[in-house]
Amino acid sequence: MVSYDEMYAHVERHVDALKTNKTGDERETYAEVFDRQTLMVLYDYMTRGHIDMIHYPVSTGKEGNVFYATDEDGEGVAVKIFRTSTSTFKRVSKYIEGDPRFKGLTGNRRKLIYAWTNKEFRNLDRYCEAGIPVPEPIAFRKNVLLMEYIGDETGPAPQLKDVAMDDPTAMYDDVVSFIIDGYRDAHLVHGDLSEYNILVWDGEPIMIDCGQAMTADHFNAKEFLMRDIGNINRFFRNRGADIIDPETILAETLKPADDDDVEESEEDYEEEEEDE
Ligand SMILES: Nc1ncnc2c1ncn2[C@@H]1O[C@H](COP(=O)(O)OP(=O)(O)O)[C@@H](O)[C@H]1O
Ligand SMILES: [Mg+2]
Repeated sequence: MVSYDEMYAHVERHVDALKTNKTGDERETYAEVFDRQTLMVLYDYMTRGHIDMIHYPVSTGKEGNVFYATDEDGEGVAVKIFRTSTSTFKRVSKYIEGDPRFKGLTGNRRKLIYAWTNKEFRNLDRYCEAGIPVPEPIAFRKNVLLMEYIGDETGPAPQLKDVAMDDPTAMYDDVVSFIIDGYRDAHLVHGDLSEYNILVWDGEPIMIDCGQAMTADHFNAKEFLMRDIGNINRFFRNRGADIIDPETILAETLKPADDDDVEESEEDYEEEEEDE
């Protein structure tokens, strides 16, 4: 067994953000993100080769931070660390209230955040299985999610809002297909789809931030589905794309499936969830 000090020293050498020369503000942010438990999770990933170096933060959000890291083979990895603070807990709570998969966890801050991390991993996995472009999930443990890094060593892929499009209609059609196929094939509604949660790499859109995505049978699913469609139509209308009216997208999304395969995969997923 390594001691805590040895563990800390190891992690420190492999996380640029923990090295010295940080300003007071930066140090404070990092102290909150890299708490003792999180450092232990990172150490574990390091001993398993999933992470070699954590290079720099890509984003510092309210619920968590995303870092660009490399694994033992030098491949890029996105490390998403959810904060276990009370404010994250409050924000996340409202999404999972009434979700049977989180029953019994709503009173335990850490466990709830861990379940949330797990949920994002599963949602990504489920989208991947359905062939919808999202970062491939690699691993989750406690409040730390590892996934494919979209971008290269010079920086992450830009968000859709910052991309100049040659053919906005073609991009729009792709994004609409994420909504329709996401529902029909992955049985998920993203729930926070916007120009912020779509990255563009090699001219292709990739959907991210899938933590709040809910299963199609969730009592709020239709409402969130309409909201996603509204957000996407608003953004692309401003960019001059040919917009499909929301009712047509909705009808296509909700059209009954013409085979039984779908129902089978849904059952598998539910069963998996109950094991938690
Ligand atoms: N897999 C990834 N590869 C590259 N950049 C990412 C990846 N995931 C997230 N990011 C970057 O981090 C930002 C925040 O991630 P996101 O999952 O949207 O979390 P949140 O919005 O909840 O903070 C994104 O807008 C994007 O710029
Ligand atoms: Mg986001």
